[in-house]
Amino acid sequence: MKLVGIIGTLIFLGIIIQIPLGYIVTTNRNYLPIHIGIGILGLILIGYELFYALKSNKQSVKILNSLALLLVLIQIGIGSNIIENNSETLSIAHQANAYILLIIIGVIGYLTFSTARKEKTISS
Ligand code: HEM
Repeated sequence: MKLVGIIGTLIFLGIIIQIPLGYIVTTNRNYLPIHIGIGILGLILIGYELFYALKSNKQSVKILNSLALLLVLIQIGIGSNIIENNSETLSIAHQANAYILLIIIGVIGYLTFSTARKEKTISS
């Protein structure tokens, strides 16, 4: 698997861990630094993927990757606000954004791997 594929898989695993971890953080703030760390690492890794997606000719992956980067930035913003002053609205926004991100990252993974498999079959 190429580095972009490995990083894409890491991003998918990251969001799968990040959502339950977020619910743990609501009751135990000791895990907050890990939650923030994964969020920031996710931002860097999605930025890396976007850099490669922009060079490819897959329009849908370009758009979805840009959207994912924007949503992670928003998620960091909402998360930082929750630390300052928690409110029901912010919490709902943070949760909704988390599930939208899960779907987008899943779709990016599906598109990337299904086209990669097709290209492999054609070239072999
Ligand atoms: C991709 C990144 C992230 C995802 C998917 C995510 C997801 C979640 C989820 C599902 C929850 C539990 C529900 C809730 O109370 O809102 C949560 C809680 C929380 N998250 Fe995140 N989060 C991310 C990044 C961040 C970042 C970067 C910060 C801080 C800068 C942060 C701060 C918090 C805090 C403080 C809570 C506890 C909220 C409470 O006590 O009600 N999150 N997160």
